[in-house]
Amino acid sequence: MLSSEIRDKFLKFFESKGHKVVPSSPLVPEGDSSVLFTTAGMQQFKPYYLGKESPYGKNVASVQKCVRTSDIDEVGDESHLTFFEMLGNFSFGGYWKKEAIEYAHEFITREMGLKIDYVSVFAGEPGVPEDKESAEIWKSIDSSLEIRKAGREDNFWGPTGEEGPCGPTTEIYVNGIEIWNIVFNEFYCNRDKSLKPLDIKGIDTGMGLERLTMVSQNVSNLFETDLFPSHPKTREEGIVADHSRAINALLEEGLIPSNKDQGYVLRRLMRRVLLYKNRYQLEIPVESEVFKQESNKFDETLEAGLKKLKEGEDPFVLFTSYGFPVELIKELGVEVDEKDFAEKFKQHKEISRAGAEQKFKGGLAGHGEMEVKLHTATHLLHQALHDVLGDEVMQKGSNITPERLRFDFSFQRKLTEEEKKKVEEIVNEKISEALPVNKAVMPKAEAEKIGARHFFDQKYPEEVSVYSIGDYSKEFCGGPHVNSTAELGHFRITNEESSSAGVRRIKAVLE
Ligand code: GLY
Repeated sequence: MLSSEIRDKFLKFFESKGHKVVPSSPLVPEGDSSVLFTTAGMQQFKPYYLGKESPYGKNVASVQKCVRTSDIDEVGDESHLTFFEMLGNFSFGGYWKKEAIEYAHEFITREMGLKIDYVSVFAGEPGVPEDKESAEIWKSIDSSLEIRKAGREDNFWGPTGEEGPCGPTTEIYVNGIEIWNIVFNEFYCNRDKSLKPLDIKGIDTGMGLERLTMVSQNVSNLFETDLFPSHPKTREEGIVADHSRAINALLEEGLIPSNKDQGYVLRRLMRRVLLYKNRYQLEIPVESEVFKQESNKFDETLEAGLKKLKEGEDPFVLFTSYGFPVELIKELGVEVDEKDFAEKFKQHKEISRAGAEQKFKGGLAGHGEMEVKLHTATHLLHQALHDVLGDEVMQKGSNITPERLRFDFSFQRKLTEEEKKKVEEIVNEKISEALPVNKAVMPKAEAEKIGARHFFDQKYPEEVSVYSIGDYSKEFCGGPHVNSTAELGHFRITNEESSSAGVRRIKAVLE
């Protein structure tokens, strides 16, 4: 069966089971800064698992474009890719385990005519019981089916990003390959990794189109399917074929290579294929002016990079500034201290993840004790400015160092001495009331309904955390904060000035 027929068959099947077919969302998620890319079909539906009403109804199906860079080092083997399409059916309180498993079984065996090798179910662990219900359902469908059990590592999925819906899974294996992951979203995983039961139970499934096509076309390698018409043979050809698909998909969405966040990933993918092109004389199936420019730029740096390497430059610097993958550095005959490289890579990844979240953290660069205190004080200041100056005040920016907070807000004129004094008095009064600081996670719409304050023009994810300080302040925020305003000390405004037209800037300290 051709991959295009499989896509159609999947959507038609779920349509016939009462699902609304929803188009793929973009690869760069809209309004979710906690992740760089869409990595799963469920991502665009995250708010509906948390109680927000779905405009598509309770049951939906999609073919979602995904980019997963976590598997980048496996690409080139028989079953891993950075870009793939995920077939998924989803339910937000519509149906549960029995229907989800029955649909999957029917689709794989009857529609696709495939034989299931075995399935796996969640084995249980402290706090999350063994999934006996799924095992029973599988047995009732096919008593001869082998049912394996596995723990959190294999049979628990989610959340995407730092927090979100997640739950135990049951997985279907065909020809020894995991092809379908059926997730029972029963929990919300908080940032501290604790699990909270969700009010409504949800279904989230993901099946790689490429893997399903591979088993359906009875080939032993993704690259032998019709999705890769050039049928790459070597590992390097496979990497180029995969990365080129990812590059084309990202370019199609208007992304351009850069030195940070998504653009940086695109640059790395481009540089990797360009290196292989040079080294193995491979054709790159990417037609784009942006790619051509990047290619020219890279040709210039490649020479300089190779020279640096030969002169003994740290391979990691070559990786970050020239995009040289470690295996290529090794192929060039340069010795690489793998442990050192891996350690630096880990730190580097942390930094780029933090970059993606930064915008959601209210300008908080560090998490030192003083920065956290100043962050909580910023929320008090924001509300106090509203109290004293009125609703014209909108947050325009925030920046916190261990020494001071800086807060920019819309307001047309200089503040009077009395107004500044009044703001200080209110903040200090709230500090002396020892108000508790609490966090709640909720859909964006709900946060807006309760009047939580937020940045004037920032895009927020569909599901946000809101910090409240007693009954006094509520704000969209990623934290962290102190537990009680009693920890803050004395608040003093050190400076008030114009930042730009119609925007005032306050600097303040805690002492
Ligand atoms: N959301 C299920 C999966 O990605 O496997």
